[in-house]
This record gives sequence, C-alpha cells and structure tokens, in this order.
Amino acid sequence: MKRIKIKEALLQGKAGDEILIKGWVRTFRSNRFIHINDGSTIHNLQAVLDFENFDEQELKRITTGACLALEGSLVESMGKGQHIEMQVTKFEILGECDPNVYPLQPKKHSLEFLRSIAHLRPRTNTFGAVLRVRHALAYAIHNYFNNKGFFYLHTPIITGSDCEGAGEMFRVSTLDPRNLPKNEDGTIDYSKDFFGRETNLTVSGQLEGELGAMAISEIYTFGPTFRAENSNTPRHLAEFWMIEPEMAFCDLNDNMDLAEDFLKYLIQYALNTCADDLQFLSARQQEEEKNKPQDQRSMELLEKLKFIIDNRFARITYTEAIDILENSKPNKKGQFQFPISGFGTDLQSEHERYLVEKHFKCPVILTDYPKEIKAFYMKQNPDGKTVRAMDILFPGIGEIVGGSQREESYDKLLNRIHELGLKEEDFWWYLDTRRFGSAEHSGFGLGFERLVLFVTGMSNIRDVIPFPRTPKSAEF
Ligand code: 4AD
Ligand code: MG
Repeated sequence: MKRIKIKEALLQGKAGDEILIKGWVRTFRSNRFIHINDGSTIHNLQAVLDFENFDEQELKRITTGACLALEGSLVESMGKGQHIEMQVTKFEILGECDPNVYPLQPKKHSLEFLRSIAHLRPRTNTFGAVLRVRHALAYAIHNYFNNKGFFYLHTPIITGSDCEGAGEMFRVSTLDPRNLPKNEDGTIDYSKDFFGRETNLTVSGQLEGELGAMAISEIYTFGPTFRAENSNTPRHLAEFWMIEPEMAFCDLNDNMDLAEDFLKYLIQYALNTCADDLQFLSARQQEEEKNKPQDQRSMELLEKLKFIIDNRFARITYTEAIDILENSKPNKKGQFQFPISGFGTDLQSEHERYLVEKHFKCPVILTDYPKEIKAFYMKQNPDGKTVRAMDILFPGIGEIVGGSQREESYDKLLNRIHELGLKEEDFWWYLDTRRFGSAEHSGFGLGFERLVLFVTGMSNIRDVIPFPRTPKSAEF
C-alpha cells in the first residue's frame, strides 16, 4: 500500500478507506489511542488500537516520540475534535524512542528550553506551524515576483566588498591562523589567501543586484545574509535571509508602492493558505499575552494581519518623525533610553515602535534620512543633507524593510565613496554601471525572519528560523 500523508487522510479521507500512514507518536493513551503526526499539518490523526488483537510486548514499544507505520481503515469518529479516525489493523515500529531520555514530553515546554533542543523542536506543534508558515511565505515571495516579471538573481555569498559599510563581516579565509603570511609592514598578506584577496560573507546582495537591474531591469535576490554585529536582541540574527528586489526606471515612490503591495500580498497569502497553523499560533499567543499587563497586550494575530492588509501605510519624512518624537510624552518625560536630540539622531527600536504603535497605530514608511546615518549608495537629495532612503516600520517589530533610491550620478557616488573613506578600487565594477548607461533605479531589502516573526506572532527571531545563529551560539 502507498503511504499517504496525514493531511490528506484528514482532508480527503472517507469512512471505509484503507490507508497507510507514517509518523511520530505524540501521545499514546489507555493502550488504545495513538495521536500521531507527520508534520504535514498541525492536526494529529487519532489511531485506535484494539489491544486484545496485538502482542503486549509490541504495544509497550509504542511511546511518545517513536516512529510508526500504521495500516487500517478510516472510520467516523465518536470523539471530540476530529471527524474521522483510524482503526488500526497492523502496525510497525520504524524507530523506537526511549521515553525516559526523550526530551520532548507531551506537555508544554518553554521556548528557551526548546532552543536548546533545536534538533527536535520541529516535532512540536508550535515549530511545525512556524516551519510551514515560513515555507508558505518563501513560496509566495517567488510567486509574487515571478507574476510581476522579475528575475531571480543569485548573488554571491562570498564577496570582497562591504555593501552596508558597517564593517560587520565574517571573514572567509583558508589561511592558517597560526602561521599567517605577512607583508613587509607586518600586515597580513591576503594575496596568499584562497581568493588572492580579503573576502567575507555577504551582508547584502544589493550591489550585485544593481548590476542585474542595469541589464534585465527587474530582479530580486533571496538568500542567506551574514552580519557579525554583536546584537543580542529578539530581532537580530548573525545569519538571516533577505529578499532584495532591485528595479531600473523606478524612483522612491514606486519603490514604496512595491514594498507595501508586496508585504500585503505575502500576509494575504499566509492567511489564505495557512489558516489552521495561524489559528493555532493565534491561540498560543493569546495564552502568552495573558501574562502581560492589559495595555501591553498586542492585537489578536489574525486581526492584526488583516489590519495590515486593510490600511494604507503612513508615509512621513525622517524630519517629520523627529519632530513627532521630540514632542512625544516619553521623550519629554525622559522615558526613552535614547533621548531624541534633533536632526541626525539615529532612530532606535523604541522610537520606531513609538511611531508605529502609539502615534500612527499602523505601519509607517520613513523617508529622507540624514545621509550620515545611511549607506553610501543612496541618492542624495538637493538639500545636501538627506538621502532618498525609506524604512518600513511594523508594530512589534520596528524596521522590517530598508531600502532607497540609488545614486545614479557617477560623480556624486564617487564623491560619497571618498567622503566616507571607502576604497574606490573595491567598487570599480559597481561604479561602472554609472559610467555605462546609468539610469534611475531603486530597491529594498526585506528581512525574511522579521516577516515570519510578524506573521506567526512569535516574539523571538530565534524561534522562526530552524537553526539560529547568534553571538556565542552556532550549535546544530
Ligand atoms: O536595512 P538593511 O541593512 O538594508 C540593506 O541591507 C540594503 N542593502 C537593502 C537594499 O536596499 N537592497 O537590511 C534590510 C533588512 C532590515 O530592514 C531587516 O528587516 C533585515 O534586513 N535585517 C536583519 N534581520 C535579522 N537579523 C539581522 N541582524 C538583520 N539586519 C538586517
Ligand atoms: Mg536598515
């Protein structure tokens, strides 16, 4: 008999169907009821055994965590919570599981504990749901861009440049750290290294993405991104996935329109295709929220997702935002950890969240930031002070998207590279796009895990990627 998935059995199965399923035991009660799950859905299949028909020793091997193959027929269920169940005629233990040492017990475990067993946590309801939503969103991203005629461009993971200019990079080298080749002045001789130069893991695919847009007009990247910033926060990972569309013949307004439409599409897609998982995650979040004071509780998950889709994002300039923040209650009462000190202040997560959650009560797109706090490649405004940047801020998350119109003038771009003390020779190929047929263009980066965090209602970014990489943690 061909194995079918539990999702199929529950959705399409009819009483009388003979089926074979395989999965892991969640619970086994009264020597009679097995709740089994294969990860295809949040729902378990209830399988019923008549223990008189089976060997007692064999039954003892059915434990939480064991992997089983079950054969039998579907029957209408008398019990609560399922319309159909399986009457087992034959079972086989594919993999035993000693319940005395198996860390996952049929009870609620803390997320902190589950992080320490990330190799097993996909077997829990919560992580099963998160992984399925994560998959759906990844699929929807490709769908969205494919439908719009964008091309998926594979940008390199190993690079020689620092796109964001923050110097937060992981070095890639095959040199022996105990025996480094040196130049005469004592510095390391990277010409002896694998690539014959200094290289690192990419912090963004944007620079190469721009090369693509300057040839095939509209591209997107979707790949792993690495940042060696020592940020131990619930919103930072050292290894995360980023989606970066880049569009020729596109200004900042077109860029914002695309980003807003894109985010709404993705959220709608999750609502359409992950209803069961989102319902489960919503109930889970409601349970957690009970421990918080009333005024700190967030909106119910599905309501929150619909709210994003139904409302236009507020759009204001950085300068307007600073004005709002300067005059805000928490600033006047000294409640911000980082007080607002006029134009030039780099906004912290507490400020972003104030704007979104307290002032506008909807997502906010901030534009035209001071050039000093943004990357070298952003288009310079005529005021000489600001650049055509845009950040999208979400409730509970803060910045979810960062993007800009790009500086298309060769002279202005080169000037900025010099001003910032960057090495012109590192960017010769990037600068060439501005020498050979330059054009207005824009793009943005969406942090994939921040999106998954938002859509699943989870509160720590470490819980929305299968195997998180953070400072002092790269197990699994
Ligand atoms: O704002 P960022 O640094 O922008 C760029 O990298 C541009 N090159 C994007 C572009 O214009 N093509 O990063 C973009 C997004 C952030 O808004 C955030 O969602 C996410 O990437 N991000 C992180 N997510 C998790 N962990 C981190 N350490 C992150 N750093 C950035
Ligand atoms: Mg940013």
